[in-house]
Amino acid sequence: MQPESNENVLRETLQQALQFHSKGQIAEAEALYRHVLQVMPNNPDALHLLGMVEHQRGNNDLAVDLINTAIQHGPSGPMYCNLGLLLLVQNKVDMALDNFRRAIDVDPGYVTSYINLGAALKNLGRRDEAIPYLQKALSLNPGRADIQVTLDTIQQEKQIENAIASHREWTDSEAKRRRPDMLKPLSFQGFSYNIADMAKFTQGIELIKESLSDKGASLFVSDNVITWNRNYSFLRDDFFLGILDSPAYAYVEKSLIWRTYVLLHFAEHAGRIAGDYVELGCHTGHTASTVISKIDFRKLSKSYFLYDLFEWKEGDEHTRMQGHNNSHMYEDVVKRFSEYEFVRVIKGSVPQSFTEGFPDKIAFAHIDMNHPVPEAGALERVLPRLSRGGVVVLDDYGWWGYCRQKLALDPIIAEHELSVLELPTGQGIVLKP
Ligand SMILES: C[S@@+](CC[C@H](N)C(=O)[O-])C[C@H]1O[C@@H](n2cnc3c(N)ncnc32)[C@H](O)[C@@H]1O
Repeated sequence: MQPESNENVLRETLQQALQFHSKGQIAEAEALYRHVLQVMPNNPDALHLLGMVEHQRGNNDLAVDLINTAIQHGPSGPMYCNLGLLLLVQNKVDMALDNFRRAIDVDPGYVTSYINLGAALKNLGRRDEAIPYLQKALSLNPGRADIQVTLDTIQQEKQIENAIASHREWTDSEAKRRRPDMLKPLSFQGFSYNIADMAKFTQGIELIKESLSDKGASLFVSDNVITWNRNYSFLRDDFFLGILDSPAYAYVEKSLIWRTYVLLHFAEHAGRIAGDYVELGCHTGHTASTVISKIDFRKLSKSYFLYDLFEWKEGDEHTRMQGHNNSHMYEDVVKRFSEYEFVRVIKGSVPQSFTEGFPDKIAFAHIDMNHPVPEAGALERVLPRLSRGGVVVLDDYGWWGYCRQKLALDPIIAEHELSVLELPTGQGIVLKP
């Protein structure tokens, strides 16, 4: 065969491999990449894409080696970008940033490089550095709503940062000298749901501030709660300030700070009650890991049972969330808690999955599946096992959008001669006397 036609055949083979790859037919794609490499061992595209196959199989070290070799033989923007993403997974942050920058150098028109670099800097809390890269990405691709969303999120995160900074500066401030016997008024603005017209909402909040005697110095607007003239104890507590400060928590998670405060209060209370902890709908384990970091769980000699479907498929009734995009969601949650021998992660539909393990006595239950059917099924089984003094936190109980849950849960609570306290955070609290 002539070298030229040989090259054409290889190009076609790579195209075919890519088609398999994009449909998730990894084995078929791999066989073709390997075939290309048998004929042309240094083919950069085959090395790069074989690296991505190894990454999808969880072999990250091998993936990094393959992409590094690909770069030696013919670098491209996507290669540096993918290498950067793999290095981020391995927590090699500086090397990752370096690779995103190289991607921009070799291919200044490749928009993904700017997005990856901007997002990585943002996640590291280096927001001011992130903004120009995201703005450049938007200028290259003005239709990308997700880039605008990331830029908006950065502005929102800066609002939270400013709230923390202003709190920490208070001790020396002029106002404290003038009113030494008073707490500093704190304000906080975070994410709220169900807003159809953000510009009008923001305008409304500005009008509320103008209308208040303190001009908004004590205004809280987050997670659909608007209050003023309150102390906000959680904004004065180092643990909760740590959450607001931490890059490990996303802006939306930080916005739930009042809910988190309520949940942790009852989780701490349950430490003195007989029985184990359960979370029905743990998603990525974000809340459970916050509970574990707040209370010295190991000392309690209790188990923490975490339940979830850990997947979302077309036609499923439960709400699709970010975590469901990860095909290794269950494995990653198991890994997240692997150092905690008291945590059991149970995959499957609640309450059927209780056959895999369900505590005889429960001290604390957090029910958060955003759906009336599994929530009712769970509550029917949790309440008979709830110890005296035990508590159930129903995450969505007070949200009108989830009122089908309230309608399904109220009769079960009444049947057990218990009552539920609806909080302004939207949570419902059931305490067993
Ligand atoms: C709102 S998220 C939970 C968030 C989590 N509690 C937290 O605070 O981080 C709802 C979760 O419920 C899960 N879920 C929905 N229906 C379920 C069912 N029938 N059985 C088990 N999990 C379910 C979803 O997969 C999703 O991860």
